[in-house]
Amino acid sequence: MTAKVIDGKAFAAKVRAEVAEHVARLKEANGLTPGLAVVLVGEDPASKVYVKNKHASTIEVGMSSFEHRLPADTGEAELLALIDQLNADPKVHGILVQLPLPSHLNSELVINRIAPAKDVDGFHISNVGLLGTGQKSMVPCTPLGCLMMLRDHHGKLAGLNAVVVGRSNIVGKPMAQLLLGDSCTVTIAHSRTKDLAEVCKRADILVAAVGRPEMITGDMVKPGATVIDVGINRIERDGKAKLVGDVHYESAAAVAGAITPVPGGVGPMTIACLLANTMTACCRANGLAEPEGLTA
Ligand code: GUN
Repeated sequence: MTAKVIDGKAFAAKVRAEVAEHVARLKEANGLTPGLAVVLVGEDPASKVYVKNKHASTIEVGMSSFEHRLPADTGEAELLALIDQLNADPKVHGILVQLPLPSHLNSELVINRIAPAKDVDGFHISNVGLLGTGQKSMVPCTPLGCLMMLRDHHGKLAGLNAVVVGRSNIVGKPMAQLLLGDSCTVTIAHSRTKDLAEVCKRADILVAAVGRPEMITGDMVKPGATVIDVGINRIERDGKAKLVGDVHYESAAAVAGAITPVPGGVGPMTIACLLANTMTACCRANGLAEPEGLTA
């Protein structure tokens, strides 16, 4: 079998177009412009690229973008004061503090200072708890993007065996909660799981989010399974820089029923879902109906 390629780039473009339509409607009918504030502390080159892309995408869908770039030696009190100011600003519906923060700053303290209703990353402890108890929350963008692609491919997910490889707070754990919410039978595996190949081989849905290049190989995939590759690993092969996922694409694609490529799979969905979350936050803040299909 050769797997169907799930085109995350095209899917993300569709989600962004839907968000743009809702933004236009919200402006016209309610005089509201959803606003996203992004806070970047320091000069991390990868973070700078992410923040630049987030700004461009936010403007493209018609939202307001508020960028706050602070020097690497910014103190905790100053950063917390900025978050308090953004929490109180009615033009700001979503707040994202780009991670990783410089090591002298306590990320948990900073993230938990964001008003939960504006926490478009879904990292605040209140949102983690709401998601874990099946209540309405802000959902982390990457797992939300994976869920959207899975629902689009499968329709209903109920009863399917899902294996999530990776237990991070940003992807693995919320992904497992979302799949459980859609009535999958969920296993969380990780780098220390015994007989990982055998565990993965039971999966109808296999989500790889371990951060190890090409760790999941074709012999670990059940024939016909859907494979979602969250990994983005920069490696060098034959003297050339290359981007690979956590899945060994060629061998997995030969066995799977459907698979996301790297690049062009999960990656583009993350920013699209950040915009969707900002839209959702704006609607909730103003007591308006949320757009369908953009939330979990
Ligand atoms: N750094 C890398 N990915 C992310 C993300 O999804 N959110 C935030 N806040 N920082 C990140």
